[in-house]
Amino acid sequence: MLFYPTIGKIRRNCNRTFSILMKEHLPVSYSKDHLFIEDVSVADLVQAYGTPLYAYSASYFESRLDLYNRGREGLEEQIQFCYGMKASSNLELLRLVAARNWGADIVSGGELFRCQKAGIDPGKIVFSGVGKTESEIAYALEAGIHLFSVESPSELRTISRIATQKGTIAPVGIRINPDVDPGTHPYISTGLKENKFGIGHSHALEIYREAASLPGIRIKAAGFHIGSQLLDFSSYEEAAGRLLALVHEIEDLGISIDEIDVGGGLGIDYLQNHDLNEPLDTPDPAAFVRQMWHWINESDANRSRKLRRITFEPGRSVAGNAGFLITRVLYRKRNEDRQFFICDAAMNDLLRPSLYQAYHRVIPENASRSDTFGDLVGPVCESGDFLAKGRNLPDLQEGDVAVLASAGAYGFIMGSNYNSRPRSAEVLIRGNSHKLIRKRETYEQIIENELIRD
Ligand code: LLP
Repeated sequence: MLFYPTIGKIRRNCNRTFSILMKEHLPVSYSKDHLFIEDVSVADLVQAYGTPLYAYSASYFESRLDLYNRGREGLEEQIQFCYGMKASSNLELLRLVAARNWGADIVSGGELFRCQKAGIDPGKIVFSGVGKTESEIAYALEAGIHLFSVESPSELRTISRIATQKGTIAPVGIRINPDVDPGTHPYISTGLKENKFGIGHSHALEIYREAASLPGIRIKAAGFHIGSQLLDFSSYEEAAGRLLALVHEIEDLGISIDEIDVGGGLGIDYLQNHDLNEPLDTPDPAAFVRQMWHWINESDANRSRKLRRITFEPGRSVAGNAGFLITRVLYRKRNEDRQFFICDAAMNDLLRPSLYQAYHRVIPENASRSDTFGDLVGPVCESGDFLAKGRNLPDLQEGDVAVLASAGAYGFIMGSNYNSRPRSAEVLIRGNSHKLIRKRETYEQIIENELIRD
């Protein structure tokens, strides 16, 4: 099969660590000049469901879960995977996650509700985020989640109060802000001291001391999440080293830390720099897991200490290259020197290019289209509404279908009804079969919660 991954070349990085790249292909191919996702023709999908349409390859998504699982072989009790479901949380995708015995990293009551509907074990759920409300905390305690990843002293006190009121004990880890620069886009770097996330090193001992004295709290863990779309492992090494030094100080206070939560963040190849038929350059999740295990449990500084459980929260590196946004070109036009392809998907469907200047590869349904230069834009009334700006693009004709790749993470999920545009449908592909996993929204649904009061 075209896209099954094998371990690829090893690149020396910063003379300190290795990033191990995978050889795997996107689950797309051409047959007689027409584009297929797995073994389903994109033209058939468009005919069945219309555009804009999100399509996910189930086999690719599962192959990524399996790669992480391969990294923990023999360490199933010590390593836990909690899918960073903010990346993509359709119930059918979550069912694939549950079937692999993964838990989830959640950031809201709504995400917890989805997990319950999809059959994810609450005992494998980590609740992150800087602003958990009282009702969300109560809901998570009732559900019996694995861990609250606490981000402030006030949040800790709130959890203690609610747990005590309920006569229960809240399992807690503190998210430490390691002040490490992961070298990614500023909006998705989270482990710098100017970011709102976590507790600064200088306050960490204080909060652990307080946590140990509060009723209704059981301290289990310490963790970090330094950012997203990280393409080498060196900032993880730095963050792990800093966290472990701190953990030793916390344990010197007599507080035991049994688990380290290393967050998510592993990056993917957005296919910016090579041909479609070349393999992706993506860090290997299995190698990443083993490397983190080494840094946390086998490195020199930790040699005499006990083994600690590790929790990973990968989102993008599971879902990113499994998903595609399919769109149709409505019109072409030229304003002076600039060529515009106006399609039926817009920033409300895929916000990443507008918000982060993110690159998504544009793949024509018809392989015979040559290259040209221009902007792929949507119908939304904003100059910031573009899917590809000032780039080499396929010379799409009016009526052509094109696919935006690497849209499986932070794609549909960041969509909105801006301009009263219905959210697109979602479809799951496996081999030569496909099924609708979310219906296209209707105009009625867009207004259904609005009240006209005289
Ligand atoms: N854990 C925590 C605590 C997180 O904040 C995140 C992502 C993850 C795990 C999953 O990270 P991943 O493995 O997906 O990198 N909307 C942005 C990405 C925001 C990431 C937010 N936190 C984007 O489209 O690039």
